[in-house]
Amino acid sequence: MAINEAATPQTDGSALIWRRRGTFVLAAAGSAIGLGNIWRFPHELGTNGGSAFLFVYLLCIAGICVPLMVAEALIGRVGRTGAVYSFTAIANRQGTGELWVAVGAIGILTGFLIASFYAVVGGWTAAYTLDSLLFHSVSGEAESSAFFDQLTSLWAVPFAELGFWEIVQKMKVGVLSILMLSLFLVLSSAVVYRGVLKGLEKFVQLVMPLLFLLVVVMVVYSLAVGNTVEALRFIFTPDFSRLSPEVALKAMGHAFFSLSLGMGVFITYGGYTPKEQSLSKAIGTVALLDTLVAVLAGLMIFPLVFASEGIVADVGPSLVFISMPQAFSQMPLGNIVQPMFFLLLLVAAISSMVSLMEPMVATVERRFGINRHSACKTVVGIMWVLALGCAFSQDMFSILDYVTANIMLPLGGILVAIYVGWVLKPSLYADQAGMPAGSMRLIWLWIVRLFAPIAIVAILINGVFFS
Ligand code: TRP
Repeated sequence: MAINEAATPQTDGSALIWRRRGTFVLAAAGSAIGLGNIWRFPHELGTNGGSAFLFVYLLCIAGICVPLMVAEALIGRVGRTGAVYSFTAIANRQGTGELWVAVGAIGILTGFLIASFYAVVGGWTAAYTLDSLLFHSVSGEAESSAFFDQLTSLWAVPFAELGFWEIVQKMKVGVLSILMLSLFLVLSSAVVYRGVLKGLEKFVQLVMPLLFLLVVVMVVYSLAVGNTVEALRFIFTPDFSRLSPEVALKAMGHAFFSLSLGMGVFITYGGYTPKEQSLSKAIGTVALLDTLVAVLAGLMIFPLVFASEGIVADVGPSLVFISMPQAFSQMPLGNIVQPMFFLLLLVAAISSMVSLMEPMVATVERRFGINRHSACKTVVGIMWVLALGCAFSQDMFSILDYVTANIMLPLGGILVAIYVGWVLKPSLYADQAGMPAGSMRLIWLWIVRLFAPIAIVAILINGVFFS
C-alpha cells in the first residue's frame, strides 16, 4: 500500500486533528442533519403511520444507534486512519486478522450507493433554491407540479423502447435535472477538495449556525401561520394499530440514515478528534441535535400542509417539493419564506453530502498514494456516474434508497457492534477520554455486544420476511 505521508500524516501522534474542540459536533451534526431530516423523515412519517413510526424511531435512536455511534467513533479514534484502514491499523496493533477491513469496504460501497440518490435529491433542492431566489416561478400547485415533473422527466421515459435520436430528444427535457445534480456535486466537493482543516472545518463553522438560525425562523413562521393543532395531533397522537414489522424496519432504517450511522462517517470524523475530547458527550449532543431537527422539520412542514387546501400529508417523496411551494402560495409572506426554506434544505444537504464524500476521499488518498485533489476528482467522478443512473431510473433511485437505509446500514451497524464488542481489545480504548464510566460503561458494552446486534437482526428479519 502506497502512502502519501505529506498529505495525510499517519501515526496517532501526527494524525490530522481538528483545530477546534467544537468542530466534531458541528461536522457530525452537519452530516446527520440533512435531507434525511427535512425531506425523508416527514414523508416516511406521513406514509408509515405518523406517531407509530416516530415512537419506534426514537426507541432505535436511544437504544441502538447512540451506543453504536460511540462504537464507530471509537474505531476511528483508536485506528486514526479513516473508515477502512483504521481496521488495518488496529489489526496490526493487537495481532488480529485483517478480515475486518471488509467492514470498512462495505461501508464505502454503501456510501457510494447513498450518494447516488442523495445527489439527485440534492439537485432538486438546488433547482428549487435557485428558482425561488432568482425567478420566483415556482409557486402554487400547477407550477410546482410542473417543475417537479420537469426535474424528474427522465424517469418518465422508457428508454428500452426508444431509438437513438428519440433518446437525444428526450434528454433535452432532462437537462435541467442533470445540470442541477452536477451543480450539487460541485458545490459539495468544493468543500472536501480544500481538505479537512481548510475545507471541512471552516465550512461547518460557517454554515451550521446559519442552518440552526433558519430552522428556528422557519418553525416560528409555520407555527404562527399554519394549522399547529392538526400537525401536533398527526405527529404525536400515539396510534399503535399502525405499528407493523414493516413500519418498525423503516423506522430503524431511517434512524441509521438520519444519524449517518453504519458506513464509516463516525470512524472518519472520530479519527480527527483530539485525544482529550469526550466522545460520548459529543455524540450525545449530535444525536440530540439530529432528533430535534427532525421533529422541528415536522413542525415546519405539517402545520403548513394541514393549513392549505387540497394537500394531503402522505404523498411520499414529493411532499417537500410539491406540497410546500403549494402551501407557501397560500400563506402570508410565502414568497419570502419559500426561498428561505429551500436554502435551509440546500445547506443541510451539502453538509451531509460532504460527509458522504470525505470517508471515500480520505481512503482513496491513502490507498493509492495520491493527493487530495486527485482523490476528490476520482470519487466525485464515480458518484456523478452513479447519480446519473438514479436520475435516469426511478427504480434504481427507489431501490437504492430502500436497500441502503433499511438493510445495508443496519448490517454495517451489526458488524461494527460485533467488532467493537468482541474483537477490539478494551485495553486499546481504556484511556480514551469521556468513554462512559462505571456501570454506564457496562451497559454500553452489553448493548454493543448483545442487545444491539440481536435487536437489529430481529427487526431486519421481521421487516424483510414478515411484512
Ligand atoms: N444523515 C444524512 C441525512 O439525514 C445523510 C447522510 C450523510 C448519511 N452521510 C451519511 C446517511 C452516511 C447514512 C450514512 O440526510
